[in-house]
Amino acid sequence: MTNFSLLTRTITLFLAAAPALALLDHGLSHDQLAGIRQQLRDHAHASWEYGTASEAFLEIDNADLSVYGPAPFPPPRALPVDAWPVSNAKYIVDNKPNTKALMDDGAAGDPMSNGISVLLANATYPTDPRYNAAFMDQLDFIENVVPKDANGAISHRVSEVQLWADSVFMVPPILAYYGALQTDLDVQYKYLNMAVSQIRAYRQGLRDESTNNGLWHHVMQGSWNDARHWATGHGWAVSGILRVYQTVAKSASRDSMAWALPELTSYAEEIVAAVWQHQQPDGSLFNYLDEPGSFTEMSATALMAACTYRLALITDATAHIPAADKAFALVKNSIAEDGRLKNVVNPYDFTNPYDGVSPEGQGFVLMLQAAYRDFQAFSTGIDDSLGSAFSAFADVIAAAKGDNKVHGKREPHARRWGSRHH
Ligand SMILES: *[C@@H]1O[C@H](CO)[C@@H](O)[C@H](O)[C@H]1NC(C)=O
Repeated sequence: MTNFSLLTRTITLFLAAAPALALLDHGLSHDQLAGIRQQLRDHAHASWEYGTASEAFLEIDNADLSVYGPAPFPPPRALPVDAWPVSNAKYIVDNKPNTKALMDDGAAGDPMSNGISVLLANATYPTDPRYNAAFMDQLDFIENVVPKDANGAISHRVSEVQLWADSVFMVPPILAYYGALQTDLDVQYKYLNMAVSQIRAYRQGLRDESTNNGLWHHVMQGSWNDARHWATGHGWAVSGILRVYQTVAKSASRDSMAWALPELTSYAEEIVAAVWQHQQPDGSLFNYLDEPGSFTEMSATALMAACTYRLALITDATAHIPAADKAFALVKNSIAEDGRLKNVVNPYDFTNPYDGVSPEGQGFVLMLQAAYRDFQAFSTGIDDSLGSAFSAFADVIAAAKGDNKVHGKREPHARRWGSRHH
């Protein structure tokens, strides 16, 4: 790519994003973020909620270690013991039942969502063998014990083969992350490829072929189904797809795995485009996207907006940024005084509205703020001279795409992100 075309696309993106900045400024306020964090810490208790919180806190507080950071492999540093992903892993390992999974759970996929947290803690506590053992047990469980569909999809449930869209967030990103940490490139390829194959198999099992409009069923196969188009299911799926994209693109296998990148972006683009078709006039999504009798569901609205900013950083496609901005503005207005995200689905039954705190919803809001921050860093880099702005853009674009050509320039940008923490 020539510098000229990069600059042109950069300016186009800048112009497209400009109105949003006036509306949203820096996103959520400091007080809102403090409340959101506190509610997440206070209420997360289920396995997938811990995994979601780990990912959210990583993105917002330790962006350089998240897969959205410029160069996360190998991790540039060990997290301190008081970082949330590490204290989470310590809690899980201290309380681990005598099972292969990290936590006792009827869901096969959900405990796995804590895998990156455990791997990061393994680096923080290099002399404690429990983190390595716990991770390897969990990996063995997912890889070799949990039942699989005929197409290879690893079941979301232990007791029978059943595919949930949620699983795309819980499992493939952890398989990929473990892969990217490996120094043996054959092993690395095996797990990165497994992550992509799982996404492909889940899409095959869950994409609604009867409507063929890009929406996914929520739960299929097994003893019952939720064939409806659950909003959060789409968020889980796209978020998982984008995290695997970032992991592959920033791994040492980025060249041998290059074939996977357009496949992953095409899956993500299809879902993002399909979901925003159903955005309501106030910016929200319904719990069941295409059902008029459904209700406003702000947790999925937040996660889909986050994914839309993340996707735009990869593809430069800004078509859905106005939808994400509108959604974010409504999210910002849906935070109660105490930091609770209002108008959410019950995270424990997925069909009914909920007055309590949805820990996953709290995490999605932090992911949205982090995604918006990174998108904004990208689109407002035109500040000093065009020259320095250009190199800042080039770094962000390269990092988002996993392009190693400007590797030597990444460090200044990592510091810049660090300074943008709220
Ligand atoms: C945990 O860390 C040790 C070294 O500190 C390393 O040898 C081991 O491979 C790590 N475990 C995993 C699962 O990455």
